[in-house]
Amino acid sequence: MTDIAALRLAVDRRAIDDTLAAFCATELGGIEPRVAEAIRYSVLGGGKRLRAMLVAAAYEAVGGTADCRVLASAVEVIHAYSLVHDDLPCMDDDDVRRGRPTVHRVFGVPVAACAGLAMVPLAARCAYRGALALGLPSTAAADIVRELMRAAGAGGMIGGQILDLEAEGVSLPLDELERVHRAKTGALIVAAARVGVRGARGTDRELEAVDRYGSAIGLAFQIMDDVLDVTATTDVLGKTAGRDAALRKSTYPALLGTAGATQRAGFLIADATGALREAGILTPALESIAQYVVARRS
Ligand code: IPE
Ligand code: IPE
Ligand code: MG
Ligand code: MG
Ligand code: MG
Repeated sequence: MTDIAALRLAVDRRAIDDTLAAFCATELGGIEPRVAEAIRYSVLGGGKRLRAMLVAAAYEAVGGTADCRVLASAVEVIHAYSLVHDDLPCMDDDDVRRGRPTVHRVFGVPVAACAGLAMVPLAARCAYRGALALGLPSTAAADIVRELMRAAGAGGMIGGQILDLEAEGVSLPLDELERVHRAKTGALIVAAARVGVRGARGTDRELEAVDRYGSAIGLAFQIMDDVLDVTATTDVLGKTAGRDAALRKSTYPALLGTAGATQRAGFLIADATGALREAGILTPALESIAQYVVARRS
């Protein structure tokens, strides 16, 4: 399955887009208008919504039955912020994202930087509200926010982004590159799966299983992102193909070739689904998300 729209998950892309639009409509008041516009541009600018789908699929896999769209959308707000900053001139200096000019190309660097920062507390608010809407007590809702913020922070996504930038022009050995990928991309994907389980009051065993699953598909996701940077076109990707080589990034295809990197991603997917099977929570939705991570074309 190479098209995410065909996955037939309970929460689809449009449902997440609508939830995020409603959230922006109520939550951006009081923010400086250009910054608010930049946030809207970033958050409502498309994207596969894979992380939100993952929250929802994990939630349902452990017995959740309520509408978890707000909770699921919170992870997309953090993800969108990470993209705004990733594209800044001081980071990957990219002009195209999701088939459109990047936020700083439209709004300028200062507004883009502020919009990204403002999206962090916005995501926390979205996660907290989403958790309360599922009937969780405030302590459990706070735990969910903490989990999300920890994944986004210096020990997770941001830490990985710093390592990624430091590695430009250097050829990292495989184990160090794996550490970068697990942090910059894997941490948020793990958090998405764990937040879904927490939303449904899953057991520790279920949390551990989705942790292993998220960790494996998270690494596979970034491996395939690196592969697609080499093999796909800017048109199909909606972002500049060949950017990693231009920036002399350390990547999996540079170390293993595109076939070797894809094979490694395939092994990770098998491990991911194995973890869920052992715990008795391998649902068709979680299985199809894992398969999609390697099969995707963009
Ligand atoms: C791109 O993520 C950034 C990485 C972590 C590799 P996605 O490929 O999920 O981007 P969107 O949300 O679909 O645009
Ligand atoms: C970005 O990795 C990971 C993030 C935390 C945003 P990349 O720099 O490879 O993502 P793209 O290729 O620009 O989407
Ligand atoms: Mg980057
Ligand atoms: Mg980038
Ligand atoms: Mg990339």
